[in-house]
Amino acid sequence: MVKISPSILTADFTRLGEAIDQLDAAGVEMLHIDVMDGVFVPNISIGFPVIDSIAKRTDMPLDVHLMITRPQNYIDRFAKNAERITIHFESECDVRATLRDIHAHGVKAAVSIKPATPAEAVFDLLDEVDMVLVMSVEPGFGGQSYIPSATDKLAALRDEITRRGLSVELQVDGGINLQTAPLAAGAGADILVAGSQLFNAPDMTAAVAQLRAAASV
Ligand code: DX5
Ligand code: ZN
Repeated sequence: MVKISPSILTADFTRLGEAIDQLDAAGVEMLHIDVMDGVFVPNISIGFPVIDSIAKRTDMPLDVHLMITRPQNYIDRFAKNAERITIHFESECDVRATLRDIHAHGVKAAVSIKPATPAEAVFDLLDEVDMVLVMSVEPGFGGQSYIPSATDKLAALRDEITRRGLSVELQVDGGINLQTAPLAAGAGADILVAGSQLFNAPDMTAAVAQLRAAASV
């Protein structure tokens, strides 16, 4: 069964606690937290104080997506709360060393690729990661449309993971809705990140169930 990781980027932050309680009750597997520094991407989102508060509110695993230029400088701090940390292949760091540092903190390590980066770029990192995140929009903002080439990238990664007998999870992030979820899941995505599809829905609990159903066909 596909896992759902709701991105809180589209939340009403004055009511974040209630939204988290609702997602917990809806049975989502983790919470996706988008951290942006205004340099790696042209937007600034949330940081440590908010993540600390979320960790106090819920036991759900925190899936922290770092869209920051120098993730290597902050692993220690994010590792306090994260169950998994995703860094970008395109960030200014020694990606392999940073993934190893994440693991050294007892946290799952993942690498993400932007839409212009080919799937093959991370093939030689597959032995170092628990998860690969394929961005299906340009990182930086919620509410964008799914870029169709993400489907082929997921399929290429799934093939390579299977061929090598690895147990790396595949996550997809950006523009996931009832139309695109089956495409991504069909290509081998294990974890769907969804922001606006859930947070803009009139009934978030129902929206989680609908997304799961759409992905399982
Ligand atoms: C984009 C973020 C995503 C995004 C998802 O940089 O990584 O998590 O907010 O939002 P939707 O589902 O609205 O595309
Ligand atoms: Zn994200």
